[in-house]
Amino acid sequence: MTNTNYQYQPKQVDEIIVRPFLFEFPEDIDPLWIPGHRVRGHFFNGVSLTMPYLEPYLVKTMREAANHLDHPDLLNDIRGFNGQEASHYKCHRRLNTLLKANGYPEFEQVEDGLDAAYKKLLKRNLRTRMAYSAGFECMTNGFTTWLINKRRQLFEGASPHITSFWLMHMVEETEHKTVAYDAYMAYSGKYLPRAIGVFHGSFHVIGWGVVGMFTALKKDGVLNTWQCISEIIRLIGSLTWNVGPLLLRPLTQSFIQSGSASPLGLCQGNKALKRKGPTFHVREPMSRMISLTHCHVFNTPSFLSAVNMPTTPPCDWRTPRLVPRHRLGRCWHVHRT
Ligand SMILES: [Fe+2]
Ligand SMILES: [Fe+2]
Repeated sequence: MTNTNYQYQPKQVDEIIVRPFLFEFPEDIDPLWIPGHRVRGHFFNGVSLTMPYLEPYLVKTMREAANHLDHPDLLNDIRGFNGQEASHYKCHRRLNTLLKANGYPEFEQVEDGLDAAYKKLLKRNLRTRMAYSAGFECMTNGFTTWLINKRRQLFEGASPHITSFWLMHMVEETEHKTVAYDAYMAYSGKYLPRAIGVFHGSFHVIGWGVVGMFTALKKDGVLNTWQCISEIIRLIGSLTWNVGPLLLRPLTQSFIQSGSASPLGLCQGNKALKRKGPTFHVREPMSRMISLTHCHVFNTPSFLSAVNMPTTPPCDWRTPRLVPRHRLGRCWHVHRT
């Protein structure tokens, strides 16, 4: 099955870069990594548990889809998508192993459930799996916007290791955010399965994340406390308010028209940069994200070496403030290869 009306839509970044994703976590990392926000930390832990099952599923689905597609640019995007997702889940697996070892062996039961759920899902037909993948990636776009725009409130005082890993994961999600949608449009393009996929993909993953969160809160013995209940309500409210609208928009418009623009105008200005040479803009989405994120975690040599960037750049993203856009050019010179 292929959609004969499909036309390739150029993506918003020039290239999907598969980076060495070498985040390391201390052996004794605290699973309660956001001080004072047990629920939020466990929610991210729960979502992290899903990744070594979800992301290999996405890779398998996209690989199979590629056998039915022939547009060279789209196939190239799929290779980049698969490369990035493969790096993500390996890193999540390293983190999850430490979370289990450092107090939450109960996560293993959640992983067993995830393993069974994704094995079952892999038996569904390719169109359903692709619609799920495209739907999940739509949700990821809203999730990224939430994380980046609210990064100070969400991660204040949190572990720089886990925070930088999550934010960098989201940067790469932004780079490849349209690929699963494009692949679905090239393969089928039918509206109804895609619309169902938005809910199927999103609620399935978030649902398992919430299962992981409740498993940890139960272990902590705090589930019946008012503090815990009010934090859960605030988290769900924040998710609904910040991610919900971006989840619903692709139902009425195409993904590209539906406000899929990157958080903080991440990819704006690409055309101007293109004129400056073929390598200048290659790292642009990441460097601008890092500049604008100006989070203390990005100042650490361990973060910079994890994403294969110079560890001692005389660069504005080492300073704890927003960098005016006109000054970013100087910063990017550092990344010329
Ligand atoms: Fe990912
Ligand atoms: Fe993704």
